[in-house]
Amino acid sequence: MNIVNPKYNTILGIETSCDETAAAIVQLTNNRVKILSNIISSSIELQSKFGGIIPEQAAREQIKVIIPVINESLEQAQIKMVDIDAIAVTQGPGLIGSLLVGVETAKTLASIYKKPLLGVNHLTAHFYANWISDTSDNEPKFPILGVLVSGGHTDLIILKGHNKYKYLGGTRDDAAGECFDKSARLLGLPYPGGPQISKLAFKGNPKSYILPRPMIESDDFDMSFSGLKTAVVNLIIKITDNKNKDLTVIQKTDLAASIKEAIIDIIVNKTIKAAKMYHIEQIMIAGGVAANPRLREVLTTMLSNEIPKSKLFIPPFNLCTDNGVVIATSALFNPQEPNPLNLQANPSLSISPID
Ligand code: KG4
Ligand code: ZN
Repeated sequence: MNIVNPKYNTILGIETSCDETAAAIVQLTNNRVKILSNIISSSIELQSKFGGIIPEQAAREQIKVIIPVINESLEQAQIKMVDIDAIAVTQGPGLIGSLLVGVETAKTLASIYKKPLLGVNHLTAHFYANWISDTSDNEPKFPILGVLVSGGHTDLIILKGHNKYKYLGGTRDDAAGECFDKSARLLGLPYPGGPQISKLAFKGNPKSYILPRPMIESDDFDMSFSGLKTAVVNLIIKITDNKNKDLTVIQKTDLAASIKEAIIDIIVNKTIKAAKMYHIEQIMIAGGVAANPRLREVLTTMLSNEIPKSKLFIPPFNLCTDNGVVIATSALFNPQEPNPLNLQANPSLSISPID
């Protein structure tokens, strides 16, 4: 295992970039990352009433639960704050109000308990869900093609090492998860839409409706999902005779299946194209949409057909969506100077290419 930051063995990871408030303790034991606790509190139920996230409300909910969530993570891990080696926190990107809750809490704890404070990029942290494995054989080896598919981002990146990225491309508009969420809303399904569409689509026929796959043939690694969403809007207007009729259950089910297949087609197509062009055999997916069973299945099948020697890494379901485990694990692998009191939340933090 290529741990480059062995100074810290036991890390508290705090994540508050969007609607989740999460804290986890991870520990490096026998050269493996061990999860001692993983606590996630979500305001999703509250947010789903409004069909999406209301940033100020998300932050207000996080303020209420951040301390209980951290306390529970310590209790579950049976560890005291004094025994933590460092505190890692999501610095960005995300909603500024939400990020501030995590960053300011982490700063306060770091200052009171005199712990090193480590700022973590939420985007690359998602990939670290793939480094939590029992054996080093099951761990990704560089270079790896990273496919980040979440609610806010869709990016293709080559990881040449920890903290060494080559950005290949990504969505030019909506993220894949956002397309799931917006399409679900059009079908009258609650937020977050990915799991809802996924469940409904199970019984539907993905060939019932023809939907576009924008940019699938473009000769770069960029993607587009907003045109797909617009096509869904227009299709629903047509089927419902300009909303004079309701969608039937069968129509909704078939629409869900067709939408899901179109999103997955775009992601899988660009992933295979990138892996082939850069001759990369290790591929990993990460982010909330990586929890989609059909994406996992199609990517597995297509990769073994198209690149037989390839190895695909898929995170456990519970580590795809936002959590503190990946924040702490990312800090374990990426060395940095501890940043006690001048760490700033950065809502537009990006993945800096380092060749
Ligand atoms: O990674 P994540 O928790 O948050 C961001 O960093 O953005 O991803 C949340 C996104 C939402 O858009 C949600 O609809 C989507 O992940 N998602 C799914 C599934 N589970 C969550 N999309 C498709 N299928 C799923 N099973
Ligand atoms: Zn995320």
